[in-house]
Amino acid sequence: YRDKARFNFHGYVGRDPLCLANLTPGQRDPYPFYERIRARGPVSRSAAGVWASADYDVVRQVLRSRAMSSAPPEGQQGADLSFLEMDPPDHTRLRRFALPSFSPRNLSSMDARITAALNRLLDDLPTDEPFDLVSRVGAPMPITVISDLLGVPDADADAFARYGSTFGSALGGVRSLAHARRLVEARTALGRIFEQLFELKRREPGDDLITRAAEAGPEVIRPDEMAPLLTLLLIAGFETTVNLIGNAVLALLEHPEQWELLVADPDRAGAVVEETLRYDSPVQRTGRRVVEPVTIGGHDFVADDFVVVCVAGANRDPSVYPEPARFDITRTDPQEHLAFSGGIHYCVGAPLARLEATIALRTLAQRFPHLRRAGALTRRPGSLIRGLQSFPVTVAPVV
Ligand code: HEM
Repeated sequence: YRDKARFNFHGYVGRDPLCLANLTPGQRDPYPFYERIRARGPVSRSAAGVWASADYDVVRQVLRSRAMSSAPPEGQQGADLSFLEMDPPDHTRLRRFALPSFSPRNLSSMDARITAALNRLLDDLPTDEPFDLVSRVGAPMPITVISDLLGVPDADADAFARYGSTFGSALGGVRSLAHARRLVEARTALGRIFEQLFELKRREPGDDLITRAAEAGPEVIRPDEMAPLLTLLLIAGFETTVNLIGNAVLALLEHPEQWELLVADPDRAGAVVEETLRYDSPVQRTGRRVVEPVTIGGHDFVADDFVVVCVAGANRDPSVYPEPARFDITRTDPQEHLAFSGGIHYCVGAPLARLEATIALRTLAQRFPHLRRAGALTRRPGSLIRGLQSFPVTVAPVV
C-alpha cells in the first residue's frame, strides 16, 4: 500500500491517492465522496490504502502538526516545487524570501494595475454573443499579475505563459508519455528564460521578485533553488486563481439570488470569494508524511504513514458549517475555511488570490449585471485542482 502512496506527493505525479481520478467525467462531483470518507470516521483508510480525512478538526490539526512533513521521503523525487515540499529550516528561509512580494504594501501598489488589466480584458469582450469566461478573463488576469510580480518583461510574457500552463497541466497527474515529454521540454525552456531574466535583472534591476533573487546572496537563496522557486510561484499563480474566479461565477450563476445580492452590492465580492473557497475549493487536497508518532482525531499515526488531507471535504464538515452544501454569501460562520491550508505551509499567495478574485467579481457584477451561462461547460481533468476548462457565458441584456 505504501508503494502506491509513494510518489504522488501533492498529487503532482503518478497515481491519484484517493482514486478520485477513476470517477468518470459525468460523476465528477467529489463532494459525496468526501462525505463517505467522513462517515467512516475522523481518520480512515482510503481505497488506495493511505490514510485520509475530511474532518475539519483533524485536517486542521494535521496541517499544523510538527510531526507531519511536506517533504518527499528520503531518496525520493518530489515535484521540484521548492519550499512547498520542504521542512524547516530550508522552508523558513525560502518562504521568508518570497513573502515580501505578497506584503500588504506590495499588494496595495498592485491593486490599481490589477483593476486596469482586468478592465482591458473586459473592454475586449463581445457584448452580443457568447464567449469563454475562462480563456477571456479567468486565465489571462492571473497570468498578467504574476508575470508583473515576478518581473517578466512583456516580450517574454507569452512564452512564459505557454510553458507555465504546460507545467500547470501536470498538477494532479501526468497523463501520457507525450505529456511527460512536453513537461521536460517546458522545464528546460523555462530554465533558459529564468537564466536570461536573471542576467537582465542584474543589468537592469526592477522592483520585482526576480531582481531580489538575482541580488540575493546564497545564504538567502542558492542558485540551484531559484528555478524551482520561480516555477512554484508561476504554477501557483497560474493554476489556482483562475479556478477560484471560474468556480465563483459558476456558483453565483447557479444560485441566481446570490448573483442578485452581489449585483445589488458589489462590495459583497470579498464575501463571495470566501464562500467560494469554502464551497468549491480550487485546491481540493494536500498530503503529509508522518515523521514521528502522533495521535490526531483518536488515531495513532506512525512514522512513514501518509495522510491525504481533504481540505475541500473539511470545508463541507457540517459540524462547522451548517448546511454545508448550500452556497450562501451571507454566511457568518466564525471558523476560517481551510482552502489555503494551515500551519507553516499556509498559502503565501492567499492575499493576492483574494485581491484578484475580489476585483474580478466586483467588476463583473458592476459592468455586466446580465451575465449568464450560454452553453455547456467543461471541467479540467484530474481531481487535485477543481475548476473549469471552458465556461461559455454572455453579457448581453435579456431581450
Ligand atoms: C501553498 C491554495 C493561490 C503561492 C498553498 C497551499 C494551498 C494553496 C492549499 C498549501 C498546500 C499544503 O499545505 O501542502 C491556493 C489557492 C489559491 C492559491 C486555493 C487561489 C485561489 C496562490 C497564488 C500564489 C500562491 C496566487 C502566488 C503566486 C503559494 C505558495 C505556497 C502555497 C508559494 C507554498 C507555501 C509554503 O509551503 O509555505 N496554496 N493557493 N498560491 N501557495 Fe497557494
